[in-house]
Amino acid sequence: MSNDNKRRYSSQLVDGIKKAPSRAMLRAVGFTDADFRKPQVGIASTWSMVTPCNMHINGLADQAAAGVDAAGGKGVIFNTITISDGIANGNEAMKYSLVSREVIADSIETVAGCQGFDGLVAIGGCDKNMPGCLMAIGRLDRPAVFVYGGTIRPGKNRTDIISVFEAVGAHAKGVMNEAQVQEIERTAIPGPGSCGGMYTANTLASAIEALGLSLPGSSAQEAVSGSKAGDCRRAGAAVLNLLERGITPRRIMTREAFENAITMTIALGGSTNAVLHLIAMADVVGVPITLDDFVQLGQRTPVLADLRPSGRNLMSELIAIGGIQPLMKRLLDAGLLHGDCLTVTGRTLAENLAGAADYPPGQDIIRPLDKPIKADGHIRILYGNLAPGGAVAKITGKEGTRFSGPARVFHSEEEAMDRILDGTVQAGEVLVIRYEGPKGGPGMREMLSPTSAIMGRGLGKEVALITDGRFSGGSHGFVVGHVTPEAVEGGPLAIVENGDRITIDAERNEITLHVEEREIAARLAAWSPPPPRYTRGVLAKFARSVRSASEGAVTDRFD
Ligand code: FES
Repeated sequence: MSNDNKRRYSSQLVDGIKKAPSRAMLRAVGFTDADFRKPQVGIASTWSMVTPCNMHINGLADQAAAGVDAAGGKGVIFNTITISDGIANGNEAMKYSLVSREVIADSIETVAGCQGFDGLVAIGGCDKNMPGCLMAIGRLDRPAVFVYGGTIRPGKNRTDIISVFEAVGAHAKGVMNEAQVQEIERTAIPGPGSCGGMYTANTLASAIEALGLSLPGSSAQEAVSGSKAGDCRRAGAAVLNLLERGITPRRIMTREAFENAITMTIALGGSTNAVLHLIAMADVVGVPITLDDFVQLGQRTPVLADLRPSGRNLMSELIAIGGIQPLMKRLLDAGLLHGDCLTVTGRTLAENLAGAADYPPGQDIIRPLDKPIKADGHIRILYGNLAPGGAVAKITGKEGTRFSGPARVFHSEEEAMDRILDGTVQAGEVLVIRYEGPKGGPGMREMLSPTSAIMGRGLGKEVALITDGRFSGGSHGFVVGHVTPEAVEGGPLAIVENGDRITIDAERNEITLHVEEREIAARLAAWSPPPPRYTRGVLAKFARSVRSASEGAVTDRFD
């Protein structure tokens, strides 16, 4: 491709006599005469000292910019925001979490659009900034590579952030003293990197690699490692190759590629947040991925990875046996992945995997296809009179596949948390936490504190939890989230009363409120929505524009 075509956007800002003012500004930030003739590649860095997940990303951005420059482009680093779910969870603060995904997508789109970048490297390392990066990449449709910041190393005694959340519950139950909780608090997070199990960040990293938007092997690297630094340099060079060949993200982000991402999510036993974010990423590029795609693919895809939160191992331990490439190769050979999907290497998925070695003998982290942990998907999409628009459950089978019990209803996460910790919540109950949806919360908070408290109190198999909010990738237990329509929109979740019997059946994929239809209609007729919790500011803005969880909770669709 000619250099002019590769400079399709930047040329409009820096070429010709009329653009002398733009060049003058850019000279001050280091551009030379030669740089103005190169394709400009924006390096979107989510660096921030608010969280360990992203504290190292400025260094990775430098590596990516060096990779761009070495390949003949001009790398320009810019920042976007990030927040940390691990810090915000369990508070009003968490309402800003999903909002941040939209702010990140909007801000990357805004900077790249305004600065005339010809290509993009986006580097993310936490639950919301990763889909935010992908949504911006999809919106811009300029040659781009996503770089995952990498997983954190294990804490002392193989602890991680979820160990700390569960220690809080164990303390409430009286089986752990304060000094023991403090010891875990001080040693579980040893440095930079994303939360260390197959929680949301590692799930999304793997899904994005399967989608074809990051380089092969890059989702299974530790944050602090030579391989991660090398990945960043290669990502910079890869964007120049994509520019040369005119390969834009929408040629990669196809329906088949999203099916590959969903299949990997299931095989790895990944987070339910992938449902929300993959639907949102697909929506951006006009690929209609729905809850039903998770149902269809779940029927043919086994869960193979023994990884936390439902399993035993950490991401670092998976990296030590070869990461996800051998698993992708196995799935490809079994016909479960589409091998002809284009990727950011400029080659197909099958071509990328051609030389992938298998796992070493004797490892027990990734099971063989004929000895799965679960023969079909763990992400269950439930429908029924309590969730006519669908709900998302993570059922690995360890919790059982059916739960029936009386409802105990809460109008917020905090209310539920207090009653779990003070022992009010009893074995056998179905906890309903409502008005926590995308619009009602707003922000669809993750119920990590309640699920961890339930685990810590030893009620993991004895209590179920239903919410129009969602769950952390670290949550486990009998949990159903994303209930749609959400309560604040008049979904049936709004009229559940204490003592109503609810059944969750993950075999039949049903969620049922055992109340007469006539009674449900009468209760709904008498129901009126609570006033909005926020009337100004970003939370109010989000609540006004957000779509349902089943539609990915996107905020830029107005049809
Ligand atoms: Fe950032 Fe978990 S809080 S990856």
